[in-house]
Amino acid sequence: MEHPATEHACVFGLGWGDEGKGKIVDLLCPAFDYVVRFNGGANAGHTVVVDGQRFALHLLPTGVLHEGVVSVIGPGVVVDPVKLLAEIDALAARGIDVRPRLRISERAHLVLAYHQLEDQLSEKAASDTARIGTTARGIGPCYADKMKRAPAIRFSDLLHDPGLTARVREIVTARCNALRGLYGSDGGLQAEDVLETVETARTRLADCITDTTALLHDGLAARRRILFEGANGVLLDVDHGTYPFVTSSSTGPHGIGSGAGVPPVRVPRLVGAIKAYATRVGAGPFVSELNDETGDRIRVCGHEFGTTTGRPRRCGWFDAVACRYSVRVSGATDVALLHLDTLGGFPEVGICTAYRCDGVTLTTPPADAARLLRAEPVIEFLPGWPAELRAVRRFEDLPPPAREYVRRIETLIEAPISIIGVGPDRAQTLVRGPLAEII
Ligand code: GDP
Ligand code: IMO
Ligand code: MG
Repeated sequence: MEHPATEHACVFGLGWGDEGKGKIVDLLCPAFDYVVRFNGGANAGHTVVVDGQRFALHLLPTGVLHEGVVSVIGPGVVVDPVKLLAEIDALAARGIDVRPRLRISERAHLVLAYHQLEDQLSEKAASDTARIGTTARGIGPCYADKMKRAPAIRFSDLLHDPGLTARVREIVTARCNALRGLYGSDGGLQAEDVLETVETARTRLADCITDTTALLHDGLAARRRILFEGANGVLLDVDHGTYPFVTSSSTGPHGIGSGAGVPPVRVPRLVGAIKAYATRVGAGPFVSELNDETGDRIRVCGHEFGTTTGRPRRCGWFDAVACRYSVRVSGATDVALLHLDTLGGFPEVGICTAYRCDGVTLTTPPADAARLLRAEPVIEFLPGWPAELRAVRRFEDLPPPAREYVRRIETLIEAPISIIGVGPDRAQTLVRGPLAEII
């Protein structure tokens, strides 16, 4: 392995999203030249807090907050141009001009109004047990179009397809018919409105659209450092997550190949983010969930309300079964354990070490949601620690029970915890081991 200061790296989620990826990417940014989103879209909400100022990024890579960084939206991202432009404008209003340092892949697909409409209508029509609880950002329908090919629109089409206007009209007509047939409504969707979105995207984003694959390979050749920013989390991965209660992309470092055009083997430092407890937004199995006062207390202390949708997040004890699985699937070389401060003041803290399902003890998650939904957690309790950790900056200065908790998790998930979060601010972070050389 190269010296950490010259390695390319990836920060991604080991859970069901919202692990604190934005904070870790922001922390690592000064050591990198490029920050690259490779999956998902505006379903992501990555929060960064700097000197009390809060930024919530959805489509823009977190690198946009750093002047010396080129931010790249890779081929695997599905981009809603309306949301992207709103995000760009909101940052401009705060004095941050991101366009000169933003690059969007020609190969990335556009999320348009009919994708969001389909997302909303299909969720509304689903039964209570089948509803996924999506972010309603049109993510699934856009990835479905990409796989179907004919109805897909990519950024390169905005620049190079002379027949795009006619194609958009055809797509909208076909989609309206399909939506009316399936859900009894087309939501008043008009081709002219979609065309206006496409035209605005072309006019305002043309300078940013480029061959990001070539850009990144030129960067690799010039020994520039690249940081990949995963969205969502491994437990939401379309192949490896709690299917079907997942998102529609490859959320771990395995997504870098397809989503950025860079071979994952070029990226040796894989930092998986996870909270010191578990959370989930939307539907789906959650074995260690706490539907009681303890869960409510975690939600309040951790401010567990969605960055993208504002929905209250479901909370539970740290799930070592799920996290060890995510570590294995992703090959995480390092783990960032966030929100250790939030567990401060609990008399004892729990870790789910196994599942009991149909009379059998499981130490790896079953593939199907039905068995996961029936599974009961086996919880190991450890002593808690006093409330306030936010001023701590060195692992050795943590209260002994907090250190014990971290070490127990390391043993159970079989990966080193290199970063510990003790508060939302960039500065409220402890770094251990070789990663300290990067920061
Ligand atoms: P992401 O999607 O993985 O980037 O995570 P989100 O930004 O959606 O959610 C993480 C939340 O936790 C945000 O509100 C962060 O500001 C906050 N946060 C991150 N790390 C810590 C930490 O160590 N302690 C506390 N108390 N909050 C944190
Ligand atoms: P970040 O990057 C938390 C969840 C949704 C839903 C499921 C499918 O901020 O961690 P989708 O809209 O993608 O079709 O929804 O996935 N989900 C997330 N949950 N954080 C995210 O992103 C998420 N992205 C998707 O709540 O359960
Ligand atoms: Mg989030």
